[in-house]
Amino acid sequence: MWKKILGLGTPKREKDLVALYDRVPQEKRPRHIAVIMDGNGRWAEGKGLIRTAGHRAGVGTLLDIVQVCVDFGIEVLTVYAFSTENWKRPRPEVDFLMSLFSEVLEKEIQRMERDHVRLRFLGREDGMSEKLLGEMRAAEARLAGNDGLQFNIAANYGGQDEILRAARTLAVRAQAGEIAPEDIDEAMFAGALDTAGQPPVDLVIRTSGDLRLSNFLLWQSAYAEFWFTETNWPDFTPEEFVGALIDFAHRRRRFGGLNPSEEK
Ligand code: IPE
Ligand code: IPE
Ligand code: MG
Repeated sequence: MWKKILGLGTPKREKDLVALYDRVPQEKRPRHIAVIMDGNGRWAEGKGLIRTAGHRAGVGTLLDIVQVCVDFGIEVLTVYAFSTENWKRPRPEVDFLMSLFSEVLEKEIQRMERDHVRLRFLGREDGMSEKLLGEMRAAEARLAGNDGLQFNIAANYGGQDEILRAARTLAVRAQAGEIAPEDIDEAMFAGALDTAGQPPVDLVIRTSGDLRLSNFLLWQSAYAEFWFTETNWPDFTPEEFVGALIDFAHRRRRFGGLNPSEEK
């Protein structure tokens, strides 16, 4: 039964995870989780395989984590799939990743539909093939009416690029007389970003041991909590993910202020 719903593994494993997360109070749960899925290449190298084998193995992890988020009722999950800097990689690796996106999108769209997932791609269009862009837009449109997990895939995404594009959009509107420069506040700016209408990031998870943002969600992560693991993305498990959520529930977030117990 659980296997059928979650597609993860043994029924006991599913039940245990759900039971574990059920104990986390609602107000301690992250609304928006962002994941830097790093370490596919290192995973493959460690096994004597070519780097692209790591990317393929990483897809399995992603599907599991999406499934956990669906089951836990997480509001927004954003994953970093390809950065604006990743074009610097050898052409065959870039081509492999692009065709993998296409393949996975086609294979998984039905499951996302069944799970009421809404999909949005974050990032710039320049550089992506017309064919892939068409598939991305079609998938977004097909899932647009859903009300479940908001699943964002950052592909050809850079935080600085996103901020620049938003600034340009607002500058054009100001030039056209639609808005006054002094009207531009944080809310309006956030509304011009690719994540328009979504809550800010609460938790950033990065796998594979590097302690940096690599140009991911710079604006949205202003007050995010960070959680790092040495585990390479293909080896990252739902259990470890739930561990991150439980750690998050124990963080004391202040947002620049003080918690009630500290106000003395
Ligand atoms: C992350 O894994 C996936 C992408 C960047 C597309 P990497 O390919 O960066 O793996 P490492 O960091 O080289 O191990
Ligand atoms: C960040 O990982 C981008 C993705 C996971 C898609 P990178 O592997 O590109 O980051 P750096 O180059 O180590 O900072
Ligand atoms: Mg990497």
